[in-house]
Amino acid sequence: MQNKLPKVILRELLMEDANDRYKWCMDLEVTRHLNMPDRTPPFSLDETKGWIQQCINKTNGYEQKAILAEDSKHIGWVDLKNIDSLNKHAELGIAIGDKNYCGKGYGIAAMYEMISFGFQELGLNKIWLRVEVDNEKAIKSYKRVGYVEEGILRQDRLRKGMYVDRIRMSILKDDM
Ligand SMILES: CC(C)(COP(=O)(O)OP(=O)(O)OC[C@H]1O[C@@H](n2cnc3c(N)ncnc32)[C@H](O)[C@@H]1OP(=O)(O)O)[C@@H](O)C(=O)NCCC(=O)NCCS
Repeated sequence: MQNKLPKVILRELLMEDANDRYKWCMDLEVTRHLNMPDRTPPFSLDETKGWIQQCINKTNGYEQKAILAEDSKHIGWVDLKNIDSLNKHAELGIAIGDKNYCGKGYGIAAMYEMISFGFQELGLNKIWLRVEVDNEKAIKSYKRVGYVEEGILRQDRLRKGMYVDRIRMSILKDDM
């Protein structure tokens, strides 16, 4: 891709992020492939605030950060979870909630920032993820970042009453 990736900043979550998050999770295009309860909205505003408080207190095992675009606009979230400090690997999750910023390289830019945080700050060796087989847009982004497929997780998510296969992908520190 010839043109430069947009600039993003990752910052710790703030309680005022809850309103944006709650609003974004009303949008099925944003949540369709996210591991969330099968109802709209998936979480109430109070549950969203409760979750953000856990992330701020780091009591839920998540390193979840807000994604800001170059105009400091809050556009989504990216996280590392299931952090295995013994084997030095963790699982990445990402969502661009503000659709005005989707499909313009912000997802890729945010992943590069979080991957380097994982390798540099958390001392990880591998960052992996699980993506639903029909989430083509995300799979394309992940491949652009340098993720490689490790295998198929059969019937790994129950989505709207149907089991969906997921692909496990990973990127190693040596790959960067
Ligand atoms: C998955 C997701 C984070 C990807 O982010 P995105 O912003 O949509 O996509 P990207 O960051 O990959 O942007 C790629 C687009 O940016 C454009 N772009 C601009 N500059 C670019 C650059 N330097 N390099 C690559 N792409 C660039 C490309 O044209 C590309 O569009 P194309 O695929 O039509 O060619 C986003 O689609 C999303 O949040 N989806 C909903 C939640 C979800 O499914 N999350 C993943 C669950 S596993």
